[in-house]
Amino acid sequence: MERLQKVIARSGKASRRKAEQMIVDGRVKVNHKVVTELGTKVSHNDLVEVDGVKIESEEKVYFIINKPAGCISAVKDDLDRKVVVDYLREKGVTERVFPVGRLDYDVTGALIITNDGDLANLLMHPNNEIDKVYLVRCDGIVDSSDLMKLRSGIELDDYKTSKAKATLVSVDKKNKSSQVRITIHEGKYHQVKLMFDAIGHPVKKLRREKYAFLDVVGLKPGEFRRLKIHEVKKLYVQAKFKDKLKHYDLRKY
Ligand code: URA
Repeated sequence: MERLQKVIARSGKASRRKAEQMIVDGRVKVNHKVVTELGTKVSHNDLVEVDGVKIESEEKVYFIINKPAGCISAVKDDLDRKVVVDYLREKGVTERVFPVGRLDYDVTGALIITNDGDLANLLMHPNNEIDKVYLVRCDGIVDSSDLMKLRSGIELDDYKTSKAKATLVSVDKKNKSSQVRITIHEGKYHQVKLMFDAIGHPVKKLRREKYAFLDVVGLKPGEFRRLKIHEVKKLYVQAKFKDKLKHYDLRKY
């Protein structure tokens, strides 16, 4: 069962707020009866009509994009800057998709884009501990004690980061910089940058190589691909949604 306004919004007919207004205005019928109660819940079997027209629930779609630098991980931007969803719109994706979590404006790499709010919420829930792998180019020469700090968790202003995997990939003595690969499962705001600031090696460049088991190998910045059904299922499993998966309608996908 889902809230009526959510079902209308997912059909692509209106935003959640507009859908609520439509309900209050008496434009929505459930099983041929006008419903003005915002809390009303409906199931797949209920007939929902807006202004007498049956609404089709939007099909679920799942993509992974190689997010380029210089775009915002959002659906729209008040300052009219490029947003990551623009790359999909330009290639004809019309569903009401959004990014799962965010990468900073200057950060590149793997980002999932979908219209499946349930999966997005599960993936972003801290209890589900989805691994994210980052390749970091940072200032200075990173040594084993720096790596130990990253691995054992770092005290930031208001929390301590969980244990992380961290390996030194390369050092550039001439330019006094290092490359580190780090795996974390949290997603605090600017987390990797803050962690590297804390060990005295500010980030110069950051790329997310992997989100869960998904990478963007073969995708140029701004390119995306549809996830395969088995990848979507695996994400559900990793997001600890296994039990509910059998009730979930991915047949159309
Ligand atoms: N850590 C950051 O600092 N920025 C990101 O975009 C992702 C992780």
